[in-house]
Amino acid sequence: MYLPHMLDFIKNVEATRAARLGTEPPRMTAEEKQAVLNEFHPDYSDNGFDTIKIGPNTGQKAPKELCELLHSHSKLTGLTLDLTRTDLETDVLIIGGGGAGAAAAIEAHHAGANVTIVTKLRMGDANSMMAEGGVQAANKDTDSPQQHYLDAFGGGHFAAKPELLRRLVMEGPDAIRWLDDLGVMFDKHPDGTMITTPGGGISRKRVHACADYTGAEIMRVLRDEVAGLGIDVIEYTAALELILDESGQAAGAVLMNMLTGQYLIARAKTVIIATGGAGRMHYHGFPTSNHYGATADGLVMAYRAGANLLYQDTIQIHPTGVAHPVQLFGALVTEKVRSLGAMLINAEGEAFVHPLETRDVACAVVLRECHAHNKGITTPSGHGVWLDSPLIDMIHGPGTIQRSIPGMLRMMLNYDIDIRTSPILIYPTFHYQNGGIEIETDGYTAAIPNLFVAGEAVGGIHGRNRLMGNSMLDIIVFGRTAGKNAAKLAKSTAIGRPTIGHINTYTEKLNETGLTTNILSPILLPNYVRNVNKQK
Ligand code: FUM
Repeated sequence: MYLPHMLDFIKNVEATRAARLGTEPPRMTAEEKQAVLNEFHPDYSDNGFDTIKIGPNTGQKAPKELCELLHSHSKLTGLTLDLTRTDLETDVLIIGGGGAGAAAAIEAHHAGANVTIVTKLRMGDANSMMAEGGVQAANKDTDSPQQHYLDAFGGGHFAAKPELLRRLVMEGPDAIRWLDDLGVMFDKHPDGTMITTPGGGISRKRVHACADYTGAEIMRVLRDEVAGLGIDVIEYTAALELILDESGQAAGAVLMNMLTGQYLIARAKTVIIATGGAGRMHYHGFPTSNHYGATADGLVMAYRAGANLLYQDTIQIHPTGVAHPVQLFGALVTEKVRSLGAMLINAEGEAFVHPLETRDVACAVVLRECHAHNKGITTPSGHGVWLDSPLIDMIHGPGTIQRSIPGMLRMMLNYDIDIRTSPILIYPTFHYQNGGIEIETDGYTAAIPNLFVAGEAVGGIHGRNRLMGNSMLDIIVFGRTAGKNAAKLAKSTAIGRPTIGHINTYTEKLNETGLTTNILSPILLPNYVRNVNKQK
């Protein structure tokens, strides 16, 4: 239910709605976009960042919460672990039970490897499950992987690693075929062809969706496939640190049972980190659309072991998170709402940006309206502007909202807000870490032999901003790649004596820097209690 003053402001939206129909604000020029990014997007500010003082990325900038993790001690510091023990032995150890981990497991299994997934919560408890809008892939006659590349490269500010982006777009059509064959129920026309829709910064209708619960549908199918193939999944078991061998190759991980606190030694010939994002670190103080377990675990483990991070200073603040009701603060309002024509409207009823600008630009203009132009609406959690969802049924016909974004409709109806008749009050929300662990095209890290990374934990596929639907594509493309290559390598690699000496080395370096901290990482779950206590 909206508060009385919000209902008053809705009258301004209603007053301009009919006149706005069919007259979107113009696209911004490159100069206008850069100016608004420079002034309002957190990536372009010095606030909220610190300098990394240890490890391969020393001297570079990162959100201060990530710096705190990189500058913290291992949960294993001071413990004596018997690394000659083996609690679990496998060819390919996959850390993370989201979409990338599942895709990797399926391919590694088919390549003949013995595969084990460990996941700190349940299989599928991941950002993949929560993805809404869809998956990009250029599989229509009107489109091409080359066009997809140009959109994504430009949208990412020309910073993507070209060879990674090339793999992403070239393997897009096959990824969709693979998911379709596995049983994902994509939206289709009556003749069986895929329905594809537009998105911010996307020049063709290229987004494949399952209404607005695409991630849940994909994760349902991947999880079933993992179970059907008999792949071992160990739930409620977190990885705390990588185990290397004496020559520096990945050789397993120290695990912890989340329910009992018991440590386990897992030996593996190859390891795939698929631990997802960092939304629950709330960089720059933003709410998040992310899963409860999104705490940058993989970045911390890999970094301590010597892996390089790429673009760790850039994050995606999705322009449209829920601003009200407070119970949904930060929850994702899928970009599909904008791609169906809903406009962003300020307190005065003005449409202030074209609905299909890229996310970073759209986020920056929303922040401008709220904080510089004073044209936001006050909420108990801060501010918001309107996303004029009733336009959707006016543009595409009655029933479109019910059919195309049933999840959004239901989510808001639970709070007595009918988005067919009332706009959605939104504010930007931390959605995606653009940066992560650097990989090579075949999914492995150059710094740590036998270590692969897939999914959101990777940095460099998208550059400094990601387009809608390219994350669901990258978990499949790079999950499958990592799985195949990790299985292949596991057949030929020889692992030496296991060690966690890199943890001691890191601790010594940390002590030399003089940094003091009482944080132990990876933190595994967000520390809301600690933060609440801090405020008292
Ligand atoms: O807005 C969305 O539905 C999000 C999609 C994505 O991050 O790719």
